[in-house]
Amino acid sequence: MTDRPVWKSGITLAVIAGVCTALVALTWQLTAQRIEDNKKAWVERSLKPALAGLFFDSPVTESMLTIQQPHELPGSEAAIVYRIYAGDEPVAALFIVTARDGYAGPIRLLIGIAMDASVTGVRVLEHRETPGLGDRIETGKSDWVLQFDGHSLRDPLPDKWKIKADGGSYDQLTGASITPRAIIKAIKATLIYFESNRDTLFAAPADMADKSEGED
Ligand SMILES: Cc1cc2nc3c(=O)[nH]c(=O)nc-3n(C[C@H](O)[C@H](O)[C@H](O)COP(=O)(O)O)c2cc1C
Repeated sequence: MTDRPVWKSGITLAVIAGVCTALVALTWQLTAQRIEDNKKAWVERSLKPALAGLFFDSPVTESMLTIQQPHELPGSEAAIVYRIYAGDEPVAALFIVTARDGYAGPIRLLIGIAMDASVTGVRVLEHRETPGLGDRIETGKSDWVLQFDGHSLRDPLPDKWKIKADGGSYDQLTGASITPRAIIKAIKATLIYFESNRDTLFAAPADMADKSEGED
């Protein structure tokens, strides 16, 4: 029996290693794309409830804009806006902003606003409010956050964007007025911002980051 030359074994090993590396790279590429698509689909599903009653045919996450500080939106960090279209026509903007003065910390909000500057929907994305008190801002726990749908700074007028206990038009939550005050203040500030910046918002180019990430 003759010994196999070392160089032949070396080549065989190198070929095997090359094939394995190629397979790993291919698998990674296919999986990364699927993870990215799933992430995007999840973001789309989470954002859609704030666009209730609105016809649009663009992917929700397609036209994302990051608004860096300093800005006049609620929150001390960058705000995110998704511009929503039906064909080429802008139909709404979805804002992700932070109400900083919640009872137990910041409250991350999703606020949909139609082109006529009325609210299409509000959803709470993140909060640390107290279970049984402030957490009734979640749609799974009460309808409180739905009372803003269809309203604008003309209905009710700006000085009525308060809870009823403060002389405003909106319901509070029993035993928990701090949380509602923070949210109403944030929605009002977002409506004011939208009315003053509507044209600029829709004229700005989308973030490049959105093309690859599609995440908030
Ligand atoms: C342990 C504890 C947790 C509370 N959590 C909240 C809360 O999450 N949101 C809120 O608005 N108020 C909360 N409160 C009540 C506030 O301190 C405050 O009394 C209330 O918001 C005032 O509402 P009212 O004017 O309707 O009584 C909490 C109070 C306690 C003692």
